[in-house]
Amino acid sequence: MTRFVLDSHLPDDHLAKALAADVRAGLGGTPKTLPPKWFYDERGSKLFDQITELAEYYPTRTERELLRTHSGDVAAACPADTLVELGSGSSEKTRLLLDALDKAGTLRRYVPVDVSPGALIPASEALLTTYPRLEIHGLIADFEKHLDHLPDAERRIVAFLGGTIGNLTPAQRAEFLAGIRGGMGPNDMFLLGTGLVIDPAVLVPAYDDAAGVTAEFNKNVLRVINRDLDADFDLDAYEHVAVWDAGPEWIEMRLRSQRDQRVRIGGLDLDISVAAGEQIRTEISAKFRKAGITAELAAAGFELVAWWQDPDARFALSLSRPA
Ligand code: SAH
Ligand code: TRP
Repeated sequence: MTRFVLDSHLPDDHLAKALAADVRAGLGGTPKTLPPKWFYDERGSKLFDQITELAEYYPTRTERELLRTHSGDVAAACPADTLVELGSGSSEKTRLLLDALDKAGTLRRYVPVDVSPGALIPASEALLTTYPRLEIHGLIADFEKHLDHLPDAERRIVAFLGGTIGNLTPAQRAEFLAGIRGGMGPNDMFLLGTGLVIDPAVLVPAYDDAAGVTAEFNKNVLRVINRDLDADFDLDAYEHVAVWDAGPEWIEMRLRSQRDQRVRIGGLDLDISVAAGEQIRTEISAKFRKAGITAELAAAGFELVAWWQDPDARFALSLSRPA
């Protein structure tokens, strides 16, 4: 009996087609933008794992502590047989939830969902070793498009950790939350990790570390485009920028061109100009307040069951159920 099933909902030409469409739309307009999911090829996923270990990057260790303290409460509130995780990445913190569900005696199956096979496959293999009875059904899928493919179960926890929800715009968030809610049964619950609004003096360095790992990660999207769309971005000509925007309360990641340049994107048969000082927006990472995210959850048909935050109020875990 095999305990590991892997399905892909991304067509074989996903890279070619979806990346091409995103790059054409994002770099063709003004201001130039690129969608964040393209950071995460194998190298990008490794760089992200390095980010999570940086002294400046407080979200991962803060969320890990919250999970260490409250996974038992999660399992008690929702003794699930299936843990679905969206944007699962390395599944490292997930182990705390798996342990709690295992201890509760209900755990049967883990369903990691990620666009990055380079992250999902090794993460699943490691979990199969640690949890000798666990079934893993991995989905290589886009959580903005393929939520209707989540497998059924008696009782599920759908987890979305890491503050990744902040990488969606408010409109994308509303659609995403409604999509999750739409697929949930009455016994299922939604566990969400959100970064909170904090002092920019702590927040900004988390996205602009001294060692330059975040800069490498940000530029990785240009490397992906060079490789997969036959482009000739000169990575050294871009500077990583992270700015806190106090209006929408998000950090914006950008790549600023240090000189006028022409870029040839062979795979799109497209030439673009980038002016000196021009910035390509690559990512937002929105931060939240309890009232705001509770209202967004309510608008999608959820009611809060529990809210846990760290003593410095930097990060929160919320558990919600269908209202
Ligand atoms: N949950 C992990 C990883 C967070 S990084 C943690 O908390 O540390 C975000 C993860 O989401 C990456 O693994 C990335 O590949 C994945 N991801 C980003 N956009 C995605 C999308 N649209 N659909 C599916 N996965 C996505
Ligand atoms: N989900 C992570 C976050 O918003 C992703 C992330 C961390 C990120 N550092 C980054 C994305 C730097 C782009 C650039 O915290």
